[in-house]
Amino acid sequence: QEDLFKNVISHAKEYGFIFPSSEVYDGLSAVYDYGQNGVELKKNIREYWWKAMVQMHENIVGLDAAILMHPTTWKASGHVDAFNDPLIDNKDSKKRYRADVLIEDYCEKLNQKAQKEIDKAKERFGDAFDEAQFVATNARVVEYKARQKEILGRMASGLESGNLEDVKALIEELGIADPETGSKNWTEVRQFNLMFGTKLGASAENAMDLYLRPETAQGIFVNFLNVQKSGRMKVPFGIAQTGKAFRNEIVARQFIFRMREFEQMEMQFFVRPGEEMKYYEYWKDTRLKWHLSLGLGKENYRFHDHEKLAHYANAAADIEFNFPFGFKELEGIHSRTDFDLKAHEQHSGRKLQYFDPELNENYVPYVVETSVGLDRMFLAIFSKSLKEETLEDGSTRTVLALPAVLAPTKAAVLPLVKKDGLPDLAQKIVDDLKWDFNVAYDEKDAVGRRYRRQDALGTPFCITVDHQTLEDNTVTIRHRDSMKQDRVDIAQLRTLINDEVSM
Ligand code: GAP
Repeated sequence: QEDLFKNVISHAKEYGFIFPSSEVYDGLSAVYDYGQNGVELKKNIREYWWKAMVQMHENIVGLDAAILMHPTTWKASGHVDAFNDPLIDNKDSKKRYRADVLIEDYCEKLNQKAQKEIDKAKERFGDAFDEAQFVATNARVVEYKARQKEILGRMASGLESGNLEDVKALIEELGIADPETGSKNWTEVRQFNLMFGTKLGASAENAMDLYLRPETAQGIFVNFLNVQKSGRMKVPFGIAQTGKAFRNEIVARQFIFRMREFEQMEMQFFVRPGEEMKYYEYWKDTRLKWHLSLGLGKENYRFHDHEKLAHYANAAADIEFNFPFGFKELEGIHSRTDFDLKAHEQHSGRKLQYFDPELNENYVPYVVETSVGLDRMFLAIFSKSLKEETLEDGSTRTVLALPAVLAPTKAAVLPLVKKDGLPDLAQKIVDDLKWDFNVAYDEKDAVGRRYRRQDALGTPFCITVDHQTLEDNTVTIRHRDSMKQDRVDIAQLRTLINDEVSM
């Protein structure tokens, strides 16, 4: 798994998907740049989301709010007071960790132990195995689960009540050691705010303290009435937005999984108070289906219902994905109640109410939110698509089997040789197809090597122009995944490819 992850990172760099930010200065930790192929894949993921959310839902519209917002926004949203990570340092190694992550990792080990028991029993009982029954009755599994629940409960109550000494005591009691050095010599736990500060205005006296937004959601909340009124929207309706968010993450690791500057794709769905659970379930279901539509494998997704809720939520679940380092959060679905709109009412002194013509009454709508990280989607798709295959003749190939709709380049046109007019003919095909989708032209190296290069870039089709093309206007079209080649008429190419790659 570790090797797989290393391959993902080096493949992303070698093929122009992702580079460390400002690499000539040795990079900036947890900040990354998307290269010529990465920017296309990222754009296609964003569009795939936008189409499903905005274009396909008559009652959802888009928004592009500014990154900089009035500072009171973050007071109202709770971010100034509560958007903190509990940090702890190891006195010997001087390394800094998130206390909650250390405890959660400990619980994950208990989880793995329970899973081992389950797997062993599964092997023993075969088809007759009733997993739910086993989990509920096997003494060891019951013990592991109960222990986990107790630990997470104690951590949550320590963090919520602000009794950080209890959190430290828990770490000591569990004997949690520095994962890198094994030392158990810990400092106190303290809270650290994750928002990036900046200043607006030229002179020091007049400058106003601002924050870079830590989520896109608040731009939607403060524009709720603008959009509702100007768009004559009727509850239930949604506002969707994609854009950059910034968090001063302390434990920034795992490549683009946890970044300091990242992109979110969020949608706030405004509903009648009391109807939020219905829509919460609807969006859990709908968002999982969207993920499954990419064909990365059902077994790679699972829901994690939150027991510990954020300050704004009355129900919350994550869609977790099986990343190269295990199951981790990919998307959050939160029932946020009327917390945000009410808070903005209080802090702004303005009414943020909706008049419901059917009920003939005013109210502050409840909100169900779906929030997915674009970079995390990228990592999920990229890592599951990257494969080393052994072919029939014993040789191996690297293939990036991206869903065709998301591939940066849809087809590469390759003249078999660099003479006899084949390059001109190939270029003509490129000029014709590029109106519809991204097409590449490549004449360098032997055709087999060119195929492998396109495989590694995730290009679903290679079109080869050879001497027969000069006679009958046909080319070969090679399919990335099966490596099968068909002979087709040039005139058929556009439709053939569009059928596979259009969203
Ligand atoms: N508006 C709700 C919200 O922001 P969140 O769970 O903090 O909720 C939502 O973030 C999603 O944003 C996460 O599920 C994750 O995909 C992505 N995300 C959050 N922090 C991130 C980071 N530091 N780097 C990359 N993606 C991140």
